Amino acid sequence: MADQYAYSGDDKRPTEIPAIRWEEPPEGPVLVLLDQTRLPVEEVELVCTDAPALVEAIRSLAVRGAPLLGIAGAYGVALAAVRGFDVDEAAVALAGARPTAVNLAVGVRRAQAAHEAALANGGDIRQAAAAALAAARQLHREDAEASGRMAEHGLALLDELLPGGGHRILTHCNTGSLVSGGEGTAFAVALAAHRAGRLRRLWVDETRPLLQGARLTAYEAARSGMAYTLLTDNAAGSLFAAGEVDAVLIGADRITADGSVANKVGSYPLAVLARYHHVPFIVVAPVTTVDPDTPDGASIEVEQRAGHEVTEFVAPQVPVTGAEAGGGIPVAPLGTQAYNPAFDVTPPELVTAIVTEEGAVSPVTAEALAEVCARSRRV
Ligand code: MRU
Repeated sequence: MADQYAYSGDDKRPTEIPAIRWEEPPEGPVLVLLDQTRLPVEEVELVCTDAPALVEAIRSLAVRGAPLLGIAGAYGVALAAVRGFDVDEAAVALAGARPTAVNLAVGVRRAQAAHEAALANGGDIRQAAAAALAAARQLHREDAEASGRMAEHGLALLDELLPGGGHRILTHCNTGSLVSGGEGTAFAVALAAHRAGRLRRLWVDETRPLLQGARLTAYEAARSGMAYTLLTDNAAGSLFAAGEVDAVLIGADRITADGSVANKVGSYPLAVLARYHHVPFIVVAPVTTVDPDTPDGASIEVEQRAGHEVTEFVAPQVPVTGAEAGGGIPVAPLGTQAYNPAFDVTPPELVTAIVTEEGAVSPVTAEALAEVCARSRRV
C-alpha cells in the first residue's frame, strides 16, 4: 500500500509519558493523573486528593487501561489511608468503579491487604498507611518491569512467527505507556520491534466510540517516531483482504482460567478476521490480568457504558459530564438508544498466543496458562 498513508514520525517529544504519580506537597499527599480524556489536544493533569475523586477519574476514563487501573486502585487505597479516610469504604468504591479489568480489584486488594497486615502486626494507623503506599509503589515498579519482559518475549515470538521481519502490525485500543508503569503491553512489543528495526508499520484502529486508538495510540506512536497509520475500525477487513497485516497485537482487561480474553470492544471481530486470513492474533498482558477465579468468557462482566458515547461524537476538548447528556456533538437523532459495551470476549481457540512477562502461552490452554501464573507466584 502506498506510503502516503504512513506517518513520517517527526514528533521529537520524549516517548516516556508518565500517566500517574504520587506527590507529597505541604498540603498533603495527592495522586496526579494525566487526564486521558483531554489527549491529544492538551496535556492536562488531574490532582486527586481522595478516593471519590479517583473513582470519578476512573469512570470518566481520565485514567484507564487494565494495568494502570491496578496501579491507580492501589494508590487510591494508600491515599485514603494516608489522609485518614475509611480504607475499606474507599477500597469497595475503587474496586467497583469499573467491572471488567480485573487489575483494578487486584491492585486495590493488594494495598488493602498490606494495610490490614500492618495493623494486624501491631502497627499504628500511620504505619498501616505507609504499608499501603509501599504496596502501591511496589505494584507500580513491578508493572514497569513486567512491561519490559513482555516486550522481549513478544518480539521473540513475532520474530519466530514472522521470520522475514518487516512486521506490519495491527493494534486496537491503547496499550502503551499511558496504561502502564512502563511502556505498556501490546504497544511495548511494537515499540521493541520498531527499535530493533523490524517494524514496517503499526496499523492503529481508531477504536470507536471513545477513540483510544486515534487519540492515545497515535499520540504514543507519534512520540516514538514509528511509522503508523490510523484507520477506522471497520476498515480493518479490507486491510486484511489486501494482505497488509502480518500480525494483530492487543492487550487484555481480563483473561479467564480457560484463556478467554476480554478486551476493548472490536477485538473479537479482529480475531475472527485474523483466523480467516491466517494471521497470528497475539494478546499481550501481565500475569495480573489473568483471573483464575473467572472460569470462562461467559462469566466475565462486560461493562456497558452510557449511550451518549455512541449517539454523540465526544471530541477530546469537550468534557464528558452529566449522567444523561454527554456534552458532545450529536450524530444521531435525539433519544436514539445505543448498544455500547466497552469490551468483547475472544475465545481461546482464536488466540494464537498470550504473551506475559513469564513467557508466551501457545496454544492457549487452561493448563498452560495456570503454569505461567504459577511461575510468576514462585518468583
Ligand atoms: O476502556 P479502556 O480504555 O480502559 O479499555 C482499555 C483496553 O481495552 C485496553 O486494550 C486494555 O486495558 C489493555 S491495556 C494494556
